[in-house]
Amino acid sequence: MSTDPFRGRVAVITGGGGGIGSALARAFAARGARVALADVDLEAAARVAKELEADGAEAVPFAVDVTDRTDVHRLADTVCERFGGVHIICNNAGVAMGGEMWSAPMQDWEYTMSVNFWGVLYGVQAFVSRILEHGEGGHVVNTASMAGLTGMSFLGMYCASKFAVVGLTESLSRELRGRGIGVSVLCPMIVQTNIDRNSLARHPDPERRKAAAAAPPNVTAPPMRGGVIQADQVAGKVVRAIDAGELYIFTHPEQREILSRRAQRIDAAFGSPS
Ligand SMILES: NC(=O)c1ccc[n+]([C@@H]2O[C@H](COP(=O)([O-])OP(=O)(O)OC[C@H]3O[C@@H](n4cnc5c(N)ncnc54)[C@H](O)[C@@H]3O)[C@@H](O)[C@H]2O)c1
Repeated sequence: MSTDPFRGRVAVITGGGGGIGSALARAFAARGARVALADVDLEAAARVAKELEADGAEAVPFAVDVTDRTDVHRLADTVCERFGGVHIICNNAGVAMGGEMWSAPMQDWEYTMSVNFWGVLYGVQAFVSRILEHGEGGHVVNTASMAGLTGMSFLGMYCASKFAVVGLTESLSRELRGRGIGVSVLCPMIVQTNIDRNSLARHPDPERRKAAAAAPPNVTAPPMRGGVIQADQVAGKVVRAIDAGELYIFTHPEQREILSRRAQRIDAAFGSPS
């Protein structure tokens, strides 16, 4: 096995059927990785796999609902049987629900937390032990958001779920230190994808699902300010972070000032040194 983190290695990407997940698959395959595209939307994952295969990559679609722990463990078994092991796991599937947190339906909270938080945890549980077992090393990339590092009005549910992913991933990087597995948390600002429409299309309430057809295709997220970038740009940054073994993956230059202001506000809460 080469020391290249991608060449000949097996990468599993949840939410691989579109948006950032499919861009990760393209970028990893371009570096010689073999990819498993896991998505609740099997047709979408199959389309991405077909495109990658046409470019000469090895890519296999899998149906998985990351909110179902058994399903995620079954995915790990099936991927290992199919590819002989796994090295990179990207827990990337996610949904975005907005609204006032005090009046939002509990179903929105449960839906958001089940995909964005429990889905990531199940992925960590199902895949980390398998990467440790073969001893060839690997990498975990958990997709959080800028909303996992600073509170945003009317994105409280999303922020809560993504803060959980940042906390989980920072802790995981400490737990895995010196064990041959790199850990990164991807914290993008706005990326042009179909997340708004996709999130409604999978909502547990059939009435909300009906609204998906009318929803804008791209992220609108008015509470999140900043430029809009393409998913392939995000994927390039993820590849570089895996190569360099970096924990935090930022996507927009404006994030630096926002996070610096937050750190200053926290620092100021300690008062002036006496
Ligand atoms: N687009 C943005 O601006 C943005 C910003 C910050 C973070 N993110 C995060 O990036 C990740 C990818 O989002 P995206 O923008 O590419 O959205 P997207 O909707 O284009 O892709 C998400 C994919 O996840 C799949 N998915 C949804 N629920 C699932 C489930 N229960 N099980 C398996 N697959 C499921 C969808 O079918 C879809 O293919 C998410 O975690 C999202 O929160 C996106």
